[in-house]
Amino acid sequence: MRQELDITSQINALIGTIKSEKLDEVTRLQALSATRGLLETLESPVERIIQDVVMNPPILTSIRMGVQLGIFTQISQNPDHGVTAQEISERAGASPIIVDQFLRLLAATGYVDQIDAQKFKPSARTMIMANPNMEATTRACFDIGNCCASKAPEFFRQNQNQFPSSARETPFQLGLNTNLSYFEWLGQNPALAKDFQQWMALNQKATASWTDWFDIQKHIIDGFDFQSPDNVLLVDVGGGEGKYIQEFKENLSFSTAPGQLVLQDLPNVISAIENPPDVELMAHDFFTSQPVKG
Ligand SMILES: C[S@@+](CC[C@H](N)C(=O)[O-])C[C@H]1O[C@@H](n2cnc3c(N)ncnc32)[C@H](O)[C@@H]1O
Repeated sequence: MRQELDITSQINALIGTIKSEKLDEVTRLQALSATRGLLETLESPVERIIQDVVMNPPILTSIRMGVQLGIFTQISQNPDHGVTAQEISERAGASPIIVDQFLRLLAATGYVDQIDAQKFKPSARTMIMANPNMEATTRACFDIGNCCASKAPEFFRQNQNQFPSSARETPFQLGLNTNLSYFEWLGQNPALAKDFQQWMALNQKATASWTDWFDIQKHIIDGFDFQSPDNVLLVDVGGGEGKYIQEFKENLSFSTAPGQLVLQDLPNVISAIENPPDVELMAHDFFTSQPVKG
């Protein structure tokens, strides 16, 4: 008993230290890795398996339903007084029982804070989930990826567990009930295509800008033929809505770099860009020959 208390209080003390100190990124990542080791050591294999196999699917569903029911947006907008399950269900036009059931899962997993039997306030995670980019990412990953994942065993059973022979014969087609490839299908489903591009933009925001770690001077600028202003300096192939090329333009070290900048993606993606970066936009299928030479 004494030993158990010692370990628990040591871990709690460590949590207090980490909360009170601002860790630099390298230290934070090292500590995170060490903490995973701690969890791995403490958690029994069966606890972990039950979490993955039994708990994670309904948790993921409750996160997706949290987006659909406006749970995260409503709770995030009321950090002081909180929101009741009844209020959420009224605004969503949903059954209070449905809202209550999903809220329980979200509270149990830290996606919202439960402060009373029926009252909820935002946790740090609620605030992030309420971000439109994160809502879009959740829809794109769940509505597409989860359908593929849940049909993958059936797909592989049907094809005798062989590697797919083409991008048109994968769990995606079975999951989404289509003959189209993933990106062809997105071309016909503009709402999820928009969500997909918001997910890409989120990925880019979450990581350090490529212009800070890639040696642009050496690999892109040195050796560039400056003679003609029409020469193309950089083509962003399959660049989506052009966040990467925008970062290049906005980086003061390269904003006066000579040469043209070109953003390429599929026609439906290029034509749907709402705030295009100030570069040449070019619809191009990267499975065909590259029209920009040099
Ligand atoms: C995974 S996203 C990556 C987007 C962006 N480059 C990034 O890293 O965030 C893949 C991109 O490739 C585009 N894409 C897929 N198939 C393509 C094709 N055949 N030709 C051109 N672009 C394609 C998609 O529309 C999408 O914008």
